[in-house]
Amino acid sequence: MNEPLVLGIETSCDETAVGIVRGRTLLANVIASSVDEHARFGGVVPEIASRAHLEAMQPSIKKAVKDARIKLSDIDAVAVTAGPGLVGALLVGVGSAAGLAIGLDKPIYAVNHLAAHISVDYLTHSEVIEPTIALLVSGGHSSLLKVDDITSSITKLGQTIDDAAGEAFDKIARVMNLGFPGGPAIDADAKNGNARAIDFPRGLTTSNDWLTRPYDFSFSGLKTAVARYLESTPEFIRADVAASFQEAIVDVLLLKALAACKESGINSLVIAGGVAANSRLRAQAQERCEKAGIRLRIPPAGLCTDNGAMVASLGALMAAAGRAPSPVAFDADSSLPVATISLT
Ligand code: KG4
Ligand code: ZN
Repeated sequence: MNEPLVLGIETSCDETAVGIVRGRTLLANVIASSVDEHARFGGVVPEIASRAHLEAMQPSIKKAVKDARIKLSDIDAVAVTAGPGLVGALLVGVGSAAGLAIGLDKPIYAVNHLAAHISVDYLTHSEVIEPTIALLVSGGHSSLLKVDDITSSITKLGQTIDDAAGEAFDKIARVMNLGFPGGPAIDADAKNGNARAIDFPRGLTTSNDWLTRPYDFSFSGLKTAVARYLESTPEFIRADVAASFQEAIVDVLLLKALAACKESGINSLVIAGGVAANSRLRAQAQERCEKAGIRLRIPPAGLCTDNGAMVASLGALMAAAGRAPSPVAFDADSSLPVATISLT
């Protein structure tokens, strides 16, 4: 199948998202978020997310089909996030996708959310470079990966040993009363601040760390340092704290990503996941990769946070590569490892 028409469903967290692609062309990308319902709790409440997915699923599928100007029966395959994520939320997507696949008598691809984040880039950059190093930074995960083939071979080089990068943004935003999710708020605030105002720690970057765990991340020390600074400096300038905190995260992410490129001899880097929407990360990545002769790809900011297009994209890449679809009866896996690209 050269240009498979694939509908992808994503429900791993608080977005009910349905995307439709034809091969590597994006046709529809519908996102219904329940984020406002979680905001007053300062984080996603799984039960609320699951109920919101149930309500939003059918209208989202209908809208995506309409936006794509196709008939549901035209679809060649269904793709769905099987994990990682909140299990109750995942199950709504998995049940809906399985029902759709059975009803249409079409194959289903139960795919990995993290691999899908990376694969969305294949919709927006015509050139596919593999192998590539991938920096995956989201609300739940931060890892450095080697991607030999997005449909069959992803190797983990390192990951966070405590908080994910997005989680650090969300937690610091909470202590600064910036609301939830914190990433976009800190990003906006930091634009008015001085990134060099406060020298916050860069986790796991001592010479010993570079020897023993060069590609792992740690953000909990940074989080504590920011909290202490806020407590001990009542007259703090919020924008300076936001900019300096953001700088510490961006710096360490890029130091390690570029080191992975250099060490592996792979001069290609993809940055994906919600935190890849961060404007400072995008600008710094551009600058540092250019200097180092590394080809950089980052999806447009709107496709970095959770969406259905990324799931459809991975499903279409799998179908086009002739990969075996998943059995219709499969379990959602809340901790699906990134190396398991799809369930077979
Ligand atoms: O990939 P994603 O949408 O969901 C997960 O799979 O986790 O990532 C959400 C995370 C949140 O922690 C959010 O604060 C962060 O991405 N994020 C950002 C920005 N936009 C979203 N972090 C920093 N800067 C941003 N502009
Ligand atoms: Zn995500």
